[in-house]
Amino acid sequence: MNPSGEKALPNAGKRAKDTFFIKTFGCQMNVADSERMASLLSAKGMRPAKDVSEAGLILINGCTVREKAVHKAVSTLGKYHHDGKEAGLDKPTIGIGGCVGQLEKNALFKRAPYVDFVFGTDTIDSLPEIVHRVENGEKHVVFADFDRTQNYSTETKVFAVKATAFVNIMKGCDKFCTYCIVPFTRGREKSRTIDEVLADLARLVATGVREVTLLGQNVNSFGKGNPNAKARLPRELTNQIGKVGPRDGDENFPQLLRAIDSDPRLANLKRIRFTSSHPLDFSDELIECYLPYGVEGAPLNGVKALAPHLHLPVQSGSNRVLAKMGRHHKIESYVDQMDRLRKLNPDVGLSTDLIVGFPGETEEDFQETIKLLDRVQYDSIFAFAYSPRPGTRAAKLVDDVPSDVKNDRLNRLLQHQLRISEIRNKTWIGREVEVLVEGEAKRQVMVDKGLAKGRVWTARTGANHVVNFGDESGRNLTGRFLRVKITDATSLSMRADVIHDHLAAESEAEGFRYTSGLASEVVG
Ligand code: SAM
Ligand code: SF4
Ligand code: F3S
Repeated sequence: MNPSGEKALPNAGKRAKDTFFIKTFGCQMNVADSERMASLLSAKGMRPAKDVSEAGLILINGCTVREKAVHKAVSTLGKYHHDGKEAGLDKPTIGIGGCVGQLEKNALFKRAPYVDFVFGTDTIDSLPEIVHRVENGEKHVVFADFDRTQNYSTETKVFAVKATAFVNIMKGCDKFCTYCIVPFTRGREKSRTIDEVLADLARLVATGVREVTLLGQNVNSFGKGNPNAKARLPRELTNQIGKVGPRDGDENFPQLLRAIDSDPRLANLKRIRFTSSHPLDFSDELIECYLPYGVEGAPLNGVKALAPHLHLPVQSGSNRVLAKMGRHHKIESYVDQMDRLRKLNPDVGLSTDLIVGFPGETEEDFQETIKLLDRVQYDSIFAFAYSPRPGTRAAKLVDDVPSDVKNDRLNRLLQHQLRISEIRNKTWIGREVEVLVEGEAKRQVMVDKGLAKGRVWTARTGANHVVNFGDESGRNLTGRFLRVKITDATSLSMRADVIHDHLAAESEAEGFRYTSGLASEVVG
């Protein structure tokens, strides 16, 4: 064992020069970027290391959204460096990238002189070249400029045969919420064209992908400024789109969803998810995409493959705080959007992001956020204590909510949501749902407690609930769609019995051997 408790390999001292290890922090955007890095490195003849102590190349894909995230990236690197030295290992090549690399650039060499190179969010495709230059003796290489070209064109690169894939459809953010560093780490908004995304998806579906998550900081403003528009004129825009998102004549996100649904090359694509969205660009046209599919006599159908789940960050329940956050929307219009969506399709699972302890947030403001949870009845939430980010407008405000108050509000908020989630999850007991199996459960607790036989598997419903179930067949169910009946539920997950697995049999017959993908860790 090395000092961190990670096991040392038998040939300790030597690192395999042609292996890499990637540690990922942050959001799905970084997860997708790490997959791209792995894919580019393997095309260069490298392979993933079984363990960080084996790796000849260590990459940290870091996040800067909160101070703690930056600290985690730098301290993890320090630990790897220290542990390697203690164990008498060769010095690996070390690179740091992602939003941390983009923002900090050369400053990272001062904090960690053993880092060999820094790369940014727009320079991932240069990774093989950077590694080559470092291998040829260049020191402290920095590749962290933004891509200043107007267009955004790319092809998704996946590393393993998986049923799921992240697909970037736009990048950057023009919203500049006062607390947020992302516009500074991901640059201005740019979108791919619908035609390019469709071709990309067709290629992925042919390799066995059955669920895609369309990615962007704000996918609802997909198409803004996109020149490839005239072929698909949007319907009359009845909401706030046009103020900040795509304008009349641009391509837009609902058009992309409907184009996916009607493309014959994508007939085997079973689920579309997307993240993330901003309430200001959440259009009526998008709400209509959630209509249940195939209702007889309905004037308009929903998008068949669209998963009945929406993650729509709200950040606070108080209009006073929302204004100071620069969110440009009122809580009443947000609640109205949620009401209309639930009316169209009551099975849509809802989640959101919330920040507590923003400068000037009072207990009354916080109570407005608690009230919002009661009103909307989310299925789950992601909540964070406000962390000032240098360079943002909010960083100029006094960070006047003490950290113990922030933590107390965070705990109360999470506890409140757990009670709501439990009640909502229990309403699913007895219902049959289709799930996509993500892999074997890390802990086989249900077997230990006699609640399941065989192996326990973890899956996700379309509405994004986690479902655990036992299976005695001994098959690898990763990447398979199954029909299950929910038998029990807690605030965090559901238990189910498999009632019908012709779906798994059908997808097995397609012959894809799905794996769980990149063996590097993601830390949230
Ligand atoms: N574009 C997405 C959106 O608008 O929600 C994602 C933004 S960010 C990657 C994810 C979440 O981090 C945000 O929704 C917000 O709740 C949180 N966040 C951003 N900046 C923060 C800060 N300075 N302190 C605490 N939480 C923050
Ligand atoms: Fe950050 Fe706001 Fe942009 Fe989301 S919409 S990435 S919270 S600036
Ligand atoms: Fe994501 Fe963190 Fe960057 S949340 S966009 S990896 S700052």
